[in-house]
Amino acid sequence: MKNRSYIYSVITLSDKGFEGKREDKNYPLIKRVMGNNGFDLSDYVLIPDEKNYLTDAINKFRDKCDIILTNGGTGLSPRDITPDVTLKLIDKRLYGFELLIMRESLNETPFAALSRAVCGTIGRTIIINLPGSPDAVRSNLNAVIPILKHAIDKLQGDMSDCADIKK
Ligand code: MTE
Repeated sequence: MKNRSYIYSVITLSDKGFEGKREDKNYPLIKRVMGNNGFDLSDYVLIPDEKNYLTDAINKFRDKCDIILTNGGTGLSPRDITPDVTLKLIDKRLYGFELLIMRESLNETPFAALSRAVCGTIGRTIIINLPGSPDAVRSNLNAVIPILKHAIDKLQGDMSDCADIKK
């Protein structure tokens, strides 16, 4: 791993949170988990489950950070639009990230199957959809963190030999 910083931004989607009716418990949780693993925070925004808000937030953050973590809005409710917007904006889909996350989550609860969370790349940035439940946020982050810095290095042009990496 390079001696460099890895920057992330957080987008929380919650209609109730946006209206001030629910505290965003995921943001402090994400800050704790990411901070403990050597990632530095860039930006945070709390938005309603609205396509235009999410598109604007992703476009605003994408060139300022290595990782965008969305949380919430991945399910089946009529207002859940996070994966649909993400799919429209990504260049490459990271199916392996999605599998890692789903494998971890299904070990915890069969309800994980209700999440349609998408992972992918937007330019030099990796975007990861996390579900809204704090349990899911914690376990999903822990599932991808071990491979995240290497993935960013590769996405941003690191040509070093992957055979040397500690697996
Ligand atoms: N994944 C894990 N690991 N733990 C959970 O509690 N909740 C599930 C699923 N994924 C859950 C999970 C449930 S109940 C739903 S409805 C979906 O995530 C979508 O949640 P969201 O719409 O808040 O993103």
